Amino acid sequence: MRIMTGQAARKENFWDREKELEDIWYKIHSGSHILLVAPRRVGKTSIMYNILDNPKDDYIVLYIDTESADSENEFWKKLFHRLMEEEFVNTFKNKAKHFFNILQTINITEVSTKGIKFGDGTEMDYASAFKKVVKALDADKKLIIMMDEFAMTIENIIKYEGEKSAQSLLKTHRELRQDKIFLNKVIFIYAGSIGLESVTSKINSIGLINDLSPVKISPLEFDDAKEFIQVLSKSNSIEIEEAQIEYLLNKIEWLIPFYILLIIDELRKAKKLVTISMIDGAFLSILDNRNHFEHWHSRLKSLADNEYQFSKEILNTISEDMTMQSNEIINIAAKYSLQEDEAKEIIHSLMYDGYINNNDNPKEYRFNSPILRMWWYKNVAN
Ligand SMILES: Nc1ncnc2c1ncn2[C@@H]1O[C@H](COP(=O)(O)OP(=O)(O)O)[C@@H](O)[C@H]1O
Ligand SMILES: [Mg+2]
Repeated sequence: MRIMTGQAARKENFWDREKELEDIWYKIHSGSHILLVAPRRVGKTSIMYNILDNPKDDYIVLYIDTESADSENEFWKKLFHRLMEEEFVNTFKNKAKHFFNILQTINITEVSTKGIKFGDGTEMDYASAFKKVVKALDADKKLIIMMDEFAMTIENIIKYEGEKSAQSLLKTHRELRQDKIFLNKVIFIYAGSIGLESVTSKINSIGLINDLSPVKISPLEFDDAKEFIQVLSKSNSIEIEEAQIEYLLNKIEWLIPFYILLIIDELRKAKKLVTISMIDGAFLSILDNRNHFEHWHSRLKSLADNEYQFSKEILNTISEDMTMQSNEIINIAAKYSLQEDEAKEIIHSLMYDGYINNNDNPKEYRFNSPILRMWWYKNVAN
């Protein structure tokens, strides 16, 4: 098992997320469409890759990241091309002959930005072309379509093409999920590091996703994280004893694989028996690397200016004082001309984004992770 932090974990580098995968497969078998819910860097994409790399019998899996699509048509175009891509088609050449044969016989004579022309002369837009192809597939295998960063796609479409298009895309998805012919052929899995619920509620369309079955991806449990470190240190020749592992985990607190890997990677470089002071040092040195955390901050910068300033002041204050009482929020909101419900919505997205929580006390907010708190305090607040 190698220490990889730049991209989603895959194959032998993937630490099993047994509970989550079991839940997801259970829902797939029962025919539910799924919404994977978790802040960025908790491990959603890695879990989806695991489904892609180890599909159960009777399923064919397609993964697509649609973040860069900024119009409704662009979304369908990407999805359609992904479905027809040689790499995807070939992967299943042996596994699902029938499926493969059908994809092979679909004869496309012309492709444009708007849509395509089939060999039989019919012309259609990408959404219809996608439907046509999927409906033609034989039911011997069910297709699982995983769409990563879907909420971001919706947000982009709202921004560049307008609310109507975003609503229309959500509506088409809902129609597909409820279409009788589709029902036996496709399972949709949506994921994203911004909340699909809050994006859709902003455009009054929450009703268009309320049929999705949510699966929450949580940080690792303490004992599981401990085992993860034991396996990691063994395969990377890191000498660390149980007491130090526990110290390290207590210090990380919010036990996502990403933070564990960042710290372990620092300790690997030391090449000697890990001590408490080495662990403290490792924490300090990962904070110096802007790349590890900048994506958190850059996401906030895409908010409207007063919303960004408001979020920044909230996070600055919590990073300094450790906690914030909910009644202070209203005073800060007033400074940035935000109504109470607007401020609440932003606090909600800071929670969804994985910055803060009020789990211990509903009236008190704190950072999920001391690492992110320290990073924020050092690099943004000061
Ligand atoms: N199951 C896992 N096993 C090992 N490393 C993981 C696992 N899940 C996440 N990671 C680590 O965390 C990082 C972020 O994971 P990723 O799946 O990209 O999260 P998300 O899609 O939720 O933002 C990865 O680059 C990888 O280093
Ligand atoms: Mg991801």
